[in-house]
Order: sequence, then C-alpha cells, then structure tokens
Amino acid sequence: MEALKGVRILDMTHVQAGPTSSQLLAWMGADVIKFEPPQGDATRGQLRDVPNADSLYFTMLNCNKRSITVNMKTPEGKLVFVDLLKKCDIIMENFGPGVLDRFGFTWEKIHEINPKIVMGSIKGFGSTGPYSDFKAYENVAQAMGGAMSTTGVPDGPPFVTGAQIGDSGTGLHLAIGLLAALRQAERTGQGQYVEVAMMDGVMNLCRVKWRDHQRLMHGGLSEYSVPTSKGMGETPRAGNDSGGGQLGNAIKCKPGGPNDYVYVVVQEAVWDALANRVGPEVGMPGLAKDPKYATIGERRKNQSDVWAALNQFALKFTKREFMAILSELDVPCGPIMSTEDLFNDEHVKGREMMVELDHPQRGKWWNVGMPIKLSASPAKIERSPTLGEHTDEVLNQVLGYDAAKVENLKKAGAFSLPPKKAA
Ligand SMILES: CC(C)(COP(=O)(O)OP(=O)(O)OC[C@H]1O[C@@H](n2cnc3c(N)ncnc32)[C@H](O)[C@@H]1OP(=O)(O)O)[C@@H](O)C(=O)NCCC(=O)NCCS
Repeated sequence: MEALKGVRILDMTHVQAGPTSSQLLAWMGADVIKFEPPQGDATRGQLRDVPNADSLYFTMLNCNKRSITVNMKTPEGKLVFVDLLKKCDIIMENFGPGVLDRFGFTWEKIHEINPKIVMGSIKGFGSTGPYSDFKAYENVAQAMGGAMSTTGVPDGPPFVTGAQIGDSGTGLHLAIGLLAALRQAERTGQGQYVEVAMMDGVMNLCRVKWRDHQRLMHGGLSEYSVPTSKGMGETPRAGNDSGGGQLGNAIKCKPGGPNDYVYVVVQEAVWDALANRVGPEVGMPGLAKDPKYATIGERRKNQSDVWAALNQFALKFTKREFMAILSELDVPCGPIMSTEDLFNDEHVKGREMMVELDHPQRGKWWNVGMPIKLSASPAKIERSPTLGEHTDEVLNQVLGYDAAKVENLKKAGAFSLPPKKAA
C-alpha cells in the first residue's frame, strides 16, 4: 500500500516550487487534485518543444496528479472550491502575495471551513517582514538567500547553481512541514498553516556558508584556496573548494572537454597512498612525506601545489580512467557527469532515476525518478494529466455532484474563462 494512501490534497500550486512538492506527495500515494485556472498552469505552454503538447516543464513536475479547472473568479467556482476544501486533508499553494486573500480565502477562513485541513504556502519571502510583498523566482531566491554570493570565483561575478535550490529545494521543505502538520492534525483534529519562504529555504541549504561567516570573526579559513582573514565580513566565493574539513577540487582530465573533470577529495586518510601514486609521475617522488604537504594543516597552506600535481597527473587519463585509479586507492572522488552521461548511465538506470512515460499529446518522454525510496511502498510514476482531464471525475467521485448539477455549474462559467467581449 502507498504510504500516503487516503490523503487527499487540493493542489493550487503552479510553476515549479509548489508542483515539485505536491508531485513528491503524489508519488508517495496521496490523491493530488491539481486545481487550475481555466487556462491552466502557465508552465503547460512555456518552453514548449512539441507543438500543442504540454511542455516538459509541466509534465516533469505534475505526474500522478488529477487536473480540474475551476474559475475562482466566479461565485460558482468558489462554491466548488469550498466543497473540495471540506473533502481534503491538505491544501497547498504558491501564489504571489495576497492572491488567496483576494479570492476571499485567508488561512483563518479556510481553517473555519475545515478545521482539520493543513495549509501549505510557499512565498518568496514569507508573509512577514519588509520583503513580504515581493514575488520571487528561482534565481531571485538564490540571489537573496546567500547562494549566489558564495558561488563562483572571487574575481568573477556571482553565479546561480544549476540545482533548483530555490524552487525544488523549497518544495522539499514544504513537503516535510506538511507531513509533520498532517501527523499533528491526525492526533489533535486541528490543522495548521505551514509556510516556507524560498529565501529561508536557500539560507538553510547554505548552512555551511553561515558556519564560515562566523568563523571569519575569529580568523581566516585555512581550507579556502582564496585569501581570507579575520574580520573580512562576508563569506567569499571559493570556486570548487570542498567547503568541508577535507580538501577537495575539480581536476582536469583528457581530452579536456567542458565536463572532463573529476572532483577529488584529498581525504586525510588517503594522503600517503595518493601522494605515492601521483608524486613519482609528476617529478615529486617524496610528495607523501614532504613537510610542506605531510600534515593536513600544511597541505591546506600549500594546496595549490597539490592541485597542480594532480592536474598534471590527470591529463594523461580520461575522467573514467582517472576515477578508476583513484578508486583503487580508496580516494573519495566522482567524475563530473553531464546530463548526457547521466542519461546513459547504468547506475542511474538501475536506480530508476530516469523513467520513461507515455503522454497522449507528446508520446514518449522521460522524467527524473523518485529520489526517496520507500521499501514497502515504492513509487509508481504515472504521466501528468492534460488540462481539466479529471474535472468531471472529481466533481462526481469526490464531491458527489450529479450530471445536472455539473451542467448548471458549467453553464454558470465555474470551469471556464468568461467569453471575450466583442470589441
Ligand atoms: C511565481 C510568481 C512570481 C508568478 O506570478 P504571477 O504569474 O503574477 O502569478 P500570481 O501567483 O501572483 O497570481 C496568479 C493569478 O492567477 C489567478 N488565479 C489563480 N488560480 C486561479 C483560478 N483557479 N481561477 C481564477 N484565477 C486564478 C489569481 O487570481 C492571480 O490573479 P490576480 O493577480 O488577478 O489576483 C508568484 O506566484 C509568486 O511569487 N509565487 C510565490 C513564490 C514562488 O512560488 N515562486 C516560484 C515559482 S517557481
């Protein structure tokens, strides 16, 4: 049985941050009803690769959900919303500031309608504080949560990371909060409001940069390859430094393509073995015992020599060959994997991290699989719904509306956009 079987979610989320969260809950077995405006989640039509088909932007974030379209700007649409609220355990949304309030549904009102329902909201900056009125997208959150200022090299511009820590990262935070609140609601009969701000989520994911920010009050950061000193204030960008207690860096391999690198962690325990293998081949036969590098403290100070030696050695090998050499020595390391590498990787296939699906509009396509593996209830991934695919089904099965009632609501415009006025 699926872990969340029996949990029903009224999912008003859109774009990425919210849908990625509700998709995970759907993969754990929740009945997620995607409640869309009549024109649908905007991402259905964004970055399209196949004409007239839901975009991959949409399909990759909305699997295992049912789609219902309701126009919340009509009184009849609001009635459907209220009926659904009464039948759901969780409502979730990531609208811009004040949208639900403008519909007339504050958290207080929602709680009054269904005291047990748990409500989850993602906002760029939360509902309190000077930034609370601002909208946000991924890179805005990365900029304002400390990720960009600490990514890149000191003499270059700040960079965003490829991982969607602002959107999908916040979605993960929300899912955790919702599950905790759901457990409490089951015990107490009372739901609560769960809010995650994207900026807060990014700050949480940058936790070690806050460690370093405070360490700088007491002295320089010996493991950083860039200059640091007591009282310098902000945590600097540090390229590919490891950011942990062990030294690390990306080492270039042959033939020198953009992803021909291996990330190598020069763990203390493997220094002798690594230095004895690399040193003799780069003209440094005594590398392991050389006092400039023999202790981790000295290696930190002279790390640029260590990286130069490893780079010289690695240029004779491809990233896979270099990884094989390092793995024999028990050195923690990993080749830089391109999306193409990953797409064809046996390990990825074995772990079902790329899943092939079919879709009535686009045919075969691939989704990234479920990263959380539950032993008793593995995820069964199903395609995303087309717009409004389940409107009748939900109205009938979940709300018990008969055909006449549905017809009347349709006529009143509950599920559609108002007709355009003639000019
Ligand atoms: C992502 C974001 C910037 C998009 O902004 P946007 O496209 O202007 O969308 P908003 O959420 O502000 O507004 C949605 C609109 O759709 C309308 N809408 C939504 N669902 C509707 C429905 N079922 N029926 C009728 N109208 C609906 C809302 O009423 C609102 O219109 P309004 O401004 O006239 O009230 C904004 O939603 C946001 O900041 N969200 C919070 C942070 C976040 O999640 N960002 C990450 C996105 S990946």
